[in-house]
Amino acid sequence: MTDRISPDGEIYYPTPEVVAQARVKDWDALAKSALADPLAFWAGEAEELEWYRRWDKVLDDSKKPFYKWFAGAQCNIIHNALDRHQKTGKKNKLSLVWVGERNEVRTYSYFALNRDVCKFANVLKAMGVKKGDRVTIYMPRIPEIVIAMLACAKIGAIHSVVYGGFSVDALQGRIEDSESKVVVTADGGFMNGKVVELKKIVDDAVRHAPTVETVIVVQRTGHEVRMEPGRDYWYHDLMKLPLATGVSATEVMDAYDPLYMLYTSGTTGKPKGLIHCHGGYMVGVYSTLKYVFDLKDEDRYWCAADPGWVTGHSYIVYGPLLMGATTFMYEGAPTYPYPNRWWHLVEKYGITILYTAPTAIRGLMRFGESWPNRHDLSTLRILGSVGEPINPEAWKWYHRGIGKGRCPIMDTWWQTETGMFQLTPTPVVPLKPGSATRPFFGQDAEILDENGGPVPDGEEGFLALKNPWPAAAITIYKDPDRYVNQYWSKYPGRYMAGDSAKRDKDGYFWVIGRTDDVIKVSGYRLGTAEVESALVSHPAVAEAAVIGVSHEVKGQAIYAYCILRKGFKESEELADEVKAHVGKHMGPIVRPEKITFVDSLPKTRSGKIMRRVLNARAQGLPEGDVSTLEE
Ligand code: PRX
Repeated sequence: MTDRISPDGEIYYPTPEVVAQARVKDWDALAKSALADPLAFWAGEAEELEWYRRWDKVLDDSKKPFYKWFAGAQCNIIHNALDRHQKTGKKNKLSLVWVGERNEVRTYSYFALNRDVCKFANVLKAMGVKKGDRVTIYMPRIPEIVIAMLACAKIGAIHSVVYGGFSVDALQGRIEDSESKVVVTADGGFMNGKVVELKKIVDDAVRHAPTVETVIVVQRTGHEVRMEPGRDYWYHDLMKLPLATGVSATEVMDAYDPLYMLYTSGTTGKPKGLIHCHGGYMVGVYSTLKYVFDLKDEDRYWCAADPGWVTGHSYIVYGPLLMGATTFMYEGAPTYPYPNRWWHLVEKYGITILYTAPTAIRGLMRFGESWPNRHDLSTLRILGSVGEPINPEAWKWYHRGIGKGRCPIMDTWWQTETGMFQLTPTPVVPLKPGSATRPFFGQDAEILDENGGPVPDGEEGFLALKNPWPAAAITIYKDPDRYVNQYWSKYPGRYMAGDSAKRDKDGYFWVIGRTDDVIKVSGYRLGTAEVESALVSHPAVAEAAVIGVSHEVKGQAIYAYCILRKGFKESEELADEVKAHVGKHMGPIVRPEKITFVDSLPKTRSGKIMRRVLNARAQGLPEGDVSTLEE
């Protein structure tokens, strides 16, 4: 990971073909005018979508940092994602092309997707789900996850998608905090040729969740699962009921009404449920996808993330549908059964835009260029990267080996909180491998020091965003104070991202990593606190501290330091058992790479674990200033 900042300062200019096709040819001109009047820019973007009632004010900032975009407007994101397309030729266009790990194919036109969403919306209503109710969705990457999300949005219910790779403790915590009435899941999913038993995990998780009245189960694997009478229903049975058929009215929402909540890890404590709303989110996601991936009617766009993360929410589900685009979704892992699975899919389905994460690129890079070289990848037009810094070596491999030097790479920096891209090029912007380039239209970013003073170009500091933007999370569920404290109080009037970064002399930003206790494992965001509490839930572990250590493929891997309880003796077997325990309770991605048993942990006198010291030890580096270390 040390080669991340391209040492020779290479610049990749767009090819004439890219410029000729680009929606915005003069980036500087649009960036300048949008920055001069961001509200006018955003109002213009909002005009391209349909509203039930127009806004009184583009931005009401009277209660900042609770910015209210399109104040007074009424809308529903589903109206723009599905309803309006029924009146145009898009009705017959493919909205979703899905391929299963076992090669099954399912396609949905905009008409068919809308029909199924209406049906499932009717089912949810019949189950008593009302506007504002929370619904937890815990599913594999299958079309029904999209249908369930859209059906919730249609009736004004708030979906809370929990990533299918998480396990029982993570799921239970999120169901409890959101007080969900309904859980939508599947009998299982296929990943790497194996079945992931989602329903069993749901059974364990809802046992202690009194708010859950109904569990709806999609049949995916056909494996036998236990169905609890009066609580559990098969999705396919419900969808056949007469009550499911017929149109379902799209609920009229205020622009600021919640659309969904998504849990993410922060500095301390439990994951927080960030809330995104219908109006501003819809405009921000639509506009960023349009300009950055330059989506056109003829594109076949593939965002290879999981719908369970914000990338999936914004850029698999909502963004492409708002654009009336064709989105591609694949159930399985990139290298199963062979490392050419993705390249085979690109060729077979004529993918034009591929958006993925550095960890996937590095993982595929390991197998060499002979795998992509077996396939015709000439349909690709634009590539994308998200989730963590991309090292120039991986960037160049992606650019050369996959994009054949033709396709610009959109390195998009953003967060669950921001809802939409913040630092990103568009196809015509000259690229520097490893830099997410410059702020999106209407946005401005700064590098600040501890006290909020500016940091000179080329030096590292805290990344802050200057302007409000429409797709920002509007609050943290049940904890608005935390929302203010976490993001908006360190630098008054600025959004504090929680990342460190540099800006170079050309105004390009280079994101380095998190400044807090967040670890990015394969691009997945995990909090040290969550992992530590899973570790101490093992009977042998008295105390634990975890850090993220640089990893060639995953970006970061989890290293855990554990103090054993009296009566337990350290051994390899015990370390493996503790790792398996974390994997079982929190999910495979949370499983530590390495466990070291220690007699004590470096702590400050006030009892805070000094992760900096653990990091230095793990890398064999000097421990630095340890004057605050407890005796
Ligand atoms: O550290 C940054 C990193 O991912 C964090 C946000 O994680 P999450 O909320 O899970 O959202 C990920 C997908 C939007 C950021 O604080 N990050 C995200 N994209 C990039 C990145 N770091 C460097 N370059 C990126 N392109």
